[in-house]
Amino acid sequence: MARPSVIAIDGPAASGKSTLGQRLAEALGYLYFDTGVMYRAVTLAALRRGVDPNDEAAVTRLAEVVHIDVVPPTVADGRQYTVLLDGEDVTWDLRQPEVDAWVSPVSAYPGVRAALLSQQRRIAAGGRVVMVGRDIGTVVLPNADLKIYLDASLEERARRRYKEMMARGQSASYEEVLQSMRRRDEIDSRRATAPLRPAPDAVVIDSTTMDADAVLKHVLKLVEGADDHDGK
Ligand code: DC
Repeated sequence: MARPSVIAIDGPAASGKSTLGQRLAEALGYLYFDTGVMYRAVTLAALRRGVDPNDEAAVTRLAEVVHIDVVPPTVADGRQYTVLLDGEDVTWDLRQPEVDAWVSPVSAYPGVRAALLSQQRRIAAGGRVVMVGRDIGTVVLPNADLKIYLDASLEERARRRYKEMMARGQSASYEEVLQSMRRRDEIDSRRATAPLRPAPDAVVIDSTTMDADAVLKHVLKLVEGADDHDGK
């Protein structure tokens, strides 16, 4: 069997998708693309321009005109990529708690999703890509060669996100992170357009008790076809 060229990774916040995506792409020499940054960039643009994130029509118009570029890291500060919003480096601004708080409602707007969908498909069209998000296997790339749905318990995901935030010097309590994550999970899973759920043909991996190395090893086996039922 040919090695999968288009790989979709979906799952809830802090399930380990971006770590897996980046390491997998690196191991295979593929492009890594995290679609979450596009929704975050639209949210940040709204907040900065004084557009009310509750104003669906205004946010949708903004999503249609802002210019989002994701390029290889331009600064060696631990980032996986550099995100440019209308030319300005906003890579770390996208991780602000205010963006976290608004990105789920913004990404539930069908017009925002439509504006970003065609860009995402264009990026994947060349193949040799690992694309990460919430609806990649279900909506964006339904014909992906391999679909992974990476999950973990809510508490474990909150713990991971809390650790990340502490490492970046951001202030928050574990309890706040847990509540915010629970709220995002609910919005992402219940929205009418492209809700978070595994594609019927996705391989579901629960990473609650697995570290990043174990997840990568497992997925590399799937990629190489080492996980065939006949054990070859
Ligand atoms: O993966 P992340 O935390 O950066 O994603 C931020 C938000 O964007 C998340 O709450 C849901 C949304 N999102 C989405 O709706 N569809 C995607 N393909 C990726 C992210």
